[in-house]
Amino acid sequence: MTRSCTTSQQETSHWTKVPIRYPGGKQRFLAQIVTHLPRVGEITGRFVEPFLGGGAVFFALQPKPSLLNDKNAELIDLYRGIRHNPQEVWRLFSEYPSGKRAYYEIRKQMPRSWGVVAKAARTLYLNRTCFKGMWRQNSHGMFNVGYGGQSRRWAISEADLITVAKALRGATLACSDFETIIDDTNRGDFLFVDPPYHPGRRESRVEHYMFSQFTYDSHRRLACALRRATKRGVLWAMTTSSHSDITHLHKATRIVPFKAGVGAAPGEITRNTGEVLILNY
Ligand SMILES: C[S@@+](CC[C@H](N)C(=O)[O-])C[C@H]1O[C@@H](n2cnc3c(N)ncnc32)[C@H](O)[C@@H]1O
Repeated sequence: MTRSCTTSQQETSHWTKVPIRYPGGKQRFLAQIVTHLPRVGEITGRFVEPFLGGGAVFFALQPKPSLLNDKNAELIDLYRGIRHNPQEVWRLFSEYPSGKRAYYEIRKQMPRSWGVVAKAARTLYLNRTCFKGMWRQNSHGMFNVGYGGQSRRWAISEADLITVAKALRGATLACSDFETIIDDTNRGDFLFVDPPYHPGRRESRVEHYMFSQFTYDSHRRLACALRRATKRGVLWAMTTSSHSDITHLHKATRIVPFKAGVGAAPGEITRNTGEVLILNY
């Protein structure tokens, strides 16, 4: 397998819009990330994402076959619902009323026994109208982000959901802890790993995502799982905080800092973001 490729080599012209708002998502670094990933056609096994979230990289590249996992069951049910019947998800989503009062009524609902399509419509509605697309649950597992307004609600369309459903057709969706997923990979599979960042740093600052406590021990557990994957011959790329407490956990072949900001010359990018891409190849 060729170990790297350029953005222009990857098929970037058909990137699919991510259906949900996911402020920790990787859309803003997509071009930088795909430059360092193997081309889709060069992955002989599965493309595996143990921390799917908004799935920016998956939706950009749409590799098949793929295994997409997240511990957040509502998120995985959202994707299952869209894949099963995007038109019906759109119809139910569109029929939800607007306004703050309606938002809090819908947030109070208990959807556990609902079908996957109805669950998906509600989750999509909450995600697109909550404050900054945050995803936070209380100790009873109930979504508890405040109202954010309707301005982002209609930034997606029925056609977008249909495209997302098509992209998900070649994928297996799973809802497990990352370790089970990584331990299930074999030579030929490619892992794209985007865990929650070091708690207390970016997470508390940006406050976008508080679904689970991803502790330093979780990072250590992740590093061990990735080391086992490397021993089995699995290639992986991971985005993470550039904090040395985290980067030192990993046996990396390359560490690439993400850049942000525009310099004086056309196309020049200047500032480091505090985030890196770690590669084992
Ligand atoms: C940084 S986000 C992924 C963002 C994604 N790459 C994107 O572009 O939108 C991290 C994800 O890890 C999930 N997560 C947290 N703890 C997990 C665990 N123990 N196992 C699997 N997923 C977990 C969260 O639910 C969250 O969706």
